[in-house]
Amino acid sequence: MSSKWGSRVRQQPAILGGEPVFPEPIPLTRPTLQVDDALFDDLRGVFSSGILTNASHVAAFEREAADFLRVDHIVATSSCTAGLMLVFRCLSLTGDVILPSFTFMASGHALVWNGLTPVFADSDLRTYNLDPMSVSTALTVQSRAILATHVFGAPIDVAQIEWVARHRNIPLIIDAAHAFGATYSDGTKIGSKGLAEVFSLSPTKPLSSGEGGLIATGDAGLAKELRTAREYGNAGDYDSILVGLNGRMTEVSGIMGRRNLEHLPQWLDRRQQLVSRYTRRLSGVPGLGFQEILAGATSTYKDFSITVRQEGFGMGRRLLATSLSEENIPTRNYFNPPLHRQKAYSRYSGTRSLPNAESLADESLTLPLYSHMPTEYVDGVCDAVLSAHDYCEEIAGRDSGTMAERVR
Ligand SMILES: Cc1ncc(COP(=O)(O)O)c(C=O)c1O
Repeated sequence: MSSKWGSRVRQQPAILGGEPVFPEPIPLTRPTLQVDDALFDDLRGVFSSGILTNASHVAAFEREAADFLRVDHIVATSSCTAGLMLVFRCLSLTGDVILPSFTFMASGHALVWNGLTPVFADSDLRTYNLDPMSVSTALTVQSRAILATHVFGAPIDVAQIEWVARHRNIPLIIDAAHAFGATYSDGTKIGSKGLAEVFSLSPTKPLSSGEGGLIATGDAGLAKELRTAREYGNAGDYDSILVGLNGRMTEVSGIMGRRNLEHLPQWLDRRQQLVSRYTRRLSGVPGLGFQEILAGATSTYKDFSITVRQEGFGMGRRLLATSLSEENIPTRNYFNPPLHRQKAYSRYSGTRSLPNAESLADESLTLPLYSHMPTEYVDGVCDAVLSAHDYCEEIAGRDSGTMAERVR
């Protein structure tokens, strides 16, 4: 059977009794790892040296990452969360920090751990990123910094947000957890803007070191302070100069990061190809929306997240996720609830409504993507989405029947 979108589709979705597209569940994501003899040789070297943390491999990784990003300073940390916490610790701010609500919880946590008050701004429905207009509206005399996130690896509208920050003379810090290897519209790499940009190297990120983070900054004084802060605030004489953390990166992570960085460009190309295929096959389907990448910019596609509207697609995000799950296709609903609706943030968010963050959280559906994912998986997922759309009335009817049964 051929759908009106020109694809090959199966007779019947699994949720209606058909054969699942995939016989076994496929992964939603997998770590991107370069595992080879060079990796094992370096690991053997570290284990026999007995020097396990923050030594020559971490230092080399910092230099290589700085060269790759063309930034002056890179400070490696144990995670992005620790990196963000340390940046705000070194800034010694008190007051409010404006951030998007449509981001991962770690962005907000880093502020609250530093005694700062998160003030949530809304996001742009096209880019899923912090809306510069909403930032301007959220500014008050208490505002001390802006924290923006490159959501799913897509660059923020940095020129606009930097303008707002400069205008108010407050720093812009960027949660670049998803975005190592992405580029801004002006061709510079993510990592080169704001006072600091902080990357995550956790297992789901296109560049991973197992766990880890990298802080990029052009400010030599801040970089120096961060190096002390990641050592508990101990500059070497055990008379701590600030209340820091153990935020060090291990040598094992340094080795993994170095090996993976060598291969990153080809992996990012592969992700781009997979996403192009997804969008080629799914664009034009009523009710589906796609994250816009600003003109001239590139994304890492840490995630491929679409939005699903009941009007148009014929079912909402929840029912499509259930339908895909029956086809052995896992999905996620990032970031739901958005921060201002999370329990930990109830005392900060008041009754503020952020309609775009709320609708993105409600409608977003992350589809399977990882750097070495077979092309056939993209095709299988697209077939399943298209088939769900073709059979939307039957699936919705079956769902309301099941709901009625549950209520009875
Ligand atoms: C936007 C964002 N910020 C921060 C983090 C925290 O990164 P890490 O796990 O390296 O601390 C994540 C984790 O996925 C994230 O998605």
